[in-house]
Amino acid sequence: METDKELMNNVKVTWRCPSNIAIVKYWGKKGIQIPCNSSLSLTLSNSFTEVEAELSDKTTDEAVQLSYFFEGAVNEKFGQRVAKFLEDNREFFPFIAEKAITINSSNSFPHSAGIASSASAFGAISLALLDIAYSLEGKEKDEAFYREASNLARLGSGSASRSMYPAFAQWGENDNIQNSSNQYAIEITDIHPTFRNMKDAILIIEDEPKKVSSSVGHSLMNNHPYAENRFKQANERTAELVNILKNGDMEAFIHMCESEALTLHAMMMTSMDYYLLVKPGTITAIEKLMEFRKENNIPVCFTLDAGPNVHVLYPKAYEAQVEAFINDGLRDTYKKVIFDQEGNGPTKLNS
Ligand code: DP6
Repeated sequence: METDKELMNNVKVTWRCPSNIAIVKYWGKKGIQIPCNSSLSLTLSNSFTEVEAELSDKTTDEAVQLSYFFEGAVNEKFGQRVAKFLEDNREFFPFIAEKAITINSSNSFPHSAGIASSASAFGAISLALLDIAYSLEGKEKDEAFYREASNLARLGSGSASRSMYPAFAQWGENDNIQNSSNQYAIEITDIHPTFRNMKDAILIIEDEPKKVSSSVGHSLMNNHPYAENRFKQANERTAELVNILKNGDMEAFIHMCESEALTLHAMMMTSMDYYLLVKPGTITAIEKLMEFRKENNIPVCFTLDAGPNVHVLYPKAYEAQVEAFINDGLRDTYKKVIFDQEGNGPTKLNS
């Protein structure tokens, strides 16, 4: 029979984890990656990270020996963040005491696209390493596996907790949502057909790195004059959105989605160290989109993450009209567009 050590030598797994776009936004955190309010997102399909993780014998006596490659090249900066994440969360992977880890990571989207990749990256890293831990312990990868992966991913990047499930996922304790937790996200399964197969066209307005990182942005909610009201509003909205998704109320969805986007950016603009991430193209695209909706009576809306790019959301049934408008009417506002849609959650790529 093989010993544990021999078993560990043959281990190599690859996982693909999608990105997600928040409808109700997580903005502000406390303690160890605990959100100040709950959030709810749509898991995407075409925007994903793939991570191959492999174990080998250690060649140094470092507590964590990690070689981190991004698209074939060593990535010092992100590698250090991942090494710290592994060190801080050693109890999830006992094998790192004995083994060196090599991670090869790549994104489906161009790295200059300005898409936040920490959600899909920490999602895929967590799944790959937890998969190894489960296999070595002979544990089955059932529902509890994804819950634990969500918890682990949350410790790397909050929004990553929501990428573990198909379509709609909610993260953060909420009195009005059963089973909700600050530790991990849960899937929201009661979805009206109106919200099945939602599309998300991501308009890349600017592909420069952000001036202010999300970590700094979150920390600015600590002494923010509107913080308490904002956290309360987001918690109420998350619970309300669960009902909207169940009842198929598109008008309410559009209103909440757009208000959340503008509120997120309003929080940035009204922090003590105020800053601005929207660009002229962001505003033009939003204004044209609202006009298009009004004139054509088509259920299409926008949201923003912590950057200038505009996510255009619409049901698949309207894809022809909306995509013609994006390709033509909005063309001057963006550098690139990535057409994405609701996704099925993470997948393992080898057995
Ligand atoms: C605006 O998940 O990137 O996209 O936990 O510090 O990694 P960290 O933050 P991150 O913040 C995401 C903020 C957001 C809103 C959201 O996705 O809910």
